Amino acid sequence: MNLFRKKSDLIVKLNNLRKNNFKIGLVPTMGALHKGHTSLVKRSIKENDYTIVSIFVNPTQFNDKKDLNLYPKNLTKDCNYLDSISTDIIIFAPEINNIYNKNLSVKKFNFYDLDKFMEGRYRKGHFNGVATIVSHLFNIIKPKNAYFGEKDFQQLRIIQELVSGNNIPVNVIGCQTIREKDGLALSSRNTKLSKHNRKIASKVYEIINYVRINFDSMSFLEIYTYVDKFFDNILEIELEYFTIAESKSLIPVKEKTINKQYRAFIAVKLQGVRLIDNIALN
Ligand code: PAF
Repeated sequence: MNLFRKKSDLIVKLNNLRKNNFKIGLVPTMGALHKGHTSLVKRSIKENDYTIVSIFVNPTQFNDKKDLNLYPKNLTKDCNYLDSISTDIIIFAPEINNIYNKNLSVKKFNFYDLDKFMEGRYRKGHFNGVATIVSHLFNIIKPKNAYFGEKDFQQLRIIQELVSGNNIPVNVIGCQTIREKDGLALSSRNTKLSKHNRKIASKVYEIINYVRINFDSMSFLEIYTYVDKFFDNILEIELEYFTIAESKSLIPVKEKTINKQYRAFIAVKLQGVRLIDNIALN
């Protein structure tokens, strides 16, 4: 197992790899690994000479302390999981004080409104926390390619903006959301669902997929009314937001314009467990 707990040790290892011009791929994670991560890791292995998986539950991206404390953590299990994919994977799992100073300082970024709606609106400061840790990781690891899931599509767009706006020489690669058979997007949070709620959770995909199928034939008003009614009948689910936004700017829209791409974004709370998802509509 190639496990590094210290930034300085990892940097020595990476400097040696770089001498040979090896291409490095990075998969940033917060652990609690599942098949969604596996697909990112396998893609990185295919496209790079070395793959680094970072495992770090980043405190500055949690606006809710309870959520942070409840986040599943099991480094040994995650390392064994990665070893079962390939023993060549380099794992970077730093301690908090190896990444942040005592005050957990967060940088403030300008994401040009990409963070104004959806997750940015409901999780204040979240994307500054994400961008702070991702830029630290890019700085330490200097990967050629970095892999992020489309399940967190707003995060993916923001990281693309972070890289282009700051001339960071990393290719940010978005990877398709991996779903369970019933459509539920894979997420570390799914493990927190009871058996009953796990079944109900498939409703999140059911509704966004319905919107995708009927996007051409329904007006926005019809779609929003339909979604509200759909959740009125599911008592376990509290709808936080359902938003149709333009895929690039992430600005919510009320009507369609020719030649624009749209996505539907959703966040719900299922008896305390927060789930998000999104889907391309055209
Ligand atoms: O998507 C995640 O797991 C996290 O937001 C990330 C990108 C690893 C940053 O902590």
